Amino acid sequence: EAGRLADRLNVSLYVVGGCVRDLLLGIENLDLDLVVEGDGILFARKLAEAKQARVKAHDRFGTAIVLLPDGFKLDVATARTEYYEYPTALPTVEQSSIKKDLYRRDFTINALAVRLNAKGFGEVLDFYGGQRDLHDKIVRVLHGLSFVEDPTRVFRAIRFAVRFGFRLGRDTEALIEGAVKMNLFHRLSGHRLLEELKLLLAERDAMQAVKRMADFGLLRFIHPKLGWSSRLQAGLRAAEQALGWYRLLYLDREIAGWLVYVVALLEVLPERAVADVLKRFPFTQAEAAVIRAARLNGQAIVRQLSRRPPPKPAQVYRLLCGLSDETLLGLMARSKAEAIMRAISAFLTTYQHVKPLLTGADLKAMGLKPGPQFKQILDRLLDARLNGEVHTELDERDLAAR
Ligand code: CTP
Repeated sequence: EAGRLADRLNVSLYVVGGCVRDLLLGIENLDLDLVVEGDGILFARKLAEAKQARVKAHDRFGTAIVLLPDGFKLDVATARTEYYEYPTALPTVEQSSIKKDLYRRDFTINALAVRLNAKGFGEVLDFYGGQRDLHDKIVRVLHGLSFVEDPTRVFRAIRFAVRFGFRLGRDTEALIEGAVKMNLFHRLSGHRLLEELKLLLAERDAMQAVKRMADFGLLRFIHPKLGWSSRLQAGLRAAEQALGWYRLLYLDREIAGWLVYVVALLEVLPERAVADVLKRFPFTQAEAAVIRAARLNGQAIVRQLSRRPPPKPAQVYRLLCGLSDETLLGLMARSKAEAIMRAISAFLTTYQHVKPLLTGADLKAMGLKPGPQFKQILDRLLDARLNGEVHTELDERDLAAR
């Protein structure tokens, strides 16, 4: 359909990038990146019209996002070569334009395109050996300046290698080593570095991703004191286990898994260094709160939870309520003790959902005077219910009246 629109507008249309890569690998990918040889924004507008979709255009970059009513998202870009200089009808020129666009990209496996126009529909454009590298399982840059142009590509290289179980091309590896030696990453803003780090740590095998970063000496760009150690490895492994456990239980709940790994990474750093990291990277307040809570209160909470005799459910509840799931998993990963596992698990699955049967309205109906003591009474009722000291509503009424 988009192809037919492109034909009518007399432009060439291609689907490019990660989507083609994943298609050839047989992996699902719902992000569609389109490149137009011609006016990409005009094409996006016409497509949106036909589809009753919304468009957000960036005129300066010749790009647009088309938001289809069913939630599907298309990125449309203009092939970056002067279009009006050439008669677009000439296929050779069309090709050279998409070819140049693809040459600007990061890796051969991401520099493949599939043609969508009626003429040549479905044809794979592979100027740089992307299909061969997909077959040989290699992440390879297109040219020697790739990492200089964009140092975040170093992290992308590791991300794709870890995700697909690919290795890095030998030249590509050497270029990464060069980029590390030249300290190209100090030029990156905290924002961009954090974005890349998040994506890396969101990979299924985040631990392997960190290991690869360490192999290249990249951890020191998070903090100079951060390096690979058996302690770090154990912490990451524990984070992985805690997350695996959580995902088995809470399939319907979203968790920022990457943040649990960040907690594990920072665990091995001294206090001052953690403060540096919090300053350098623009974590949201909520994210910073998770890092601080796991770090500062972590030890005290773990100590309380592993006390003998073990704390009662209400005490566990009071210790853990208000902490995010990420913090809880951070605590779990930090201690690994059976008692902690059990307490956090009981809190997540049960305690946090418990409520007293009586409400404030009930207390009022009982003739009690509203005020700050209401909260105290309700807290007392909740504690009693958690500890199994009250069972019926009558029990609660008795307790409330006391
Ligand atoms: N790209 C690039 N250099 C970058 C970022 C992106 O060349 N620093 C190009 C690549 O061709 C990539 C495409 O832009 O395929 C889209 O980028 P992005 O959506 O970030 O990557 P995907 O390949 O789609 O990866 P993912 O599956 O992780 O979304």
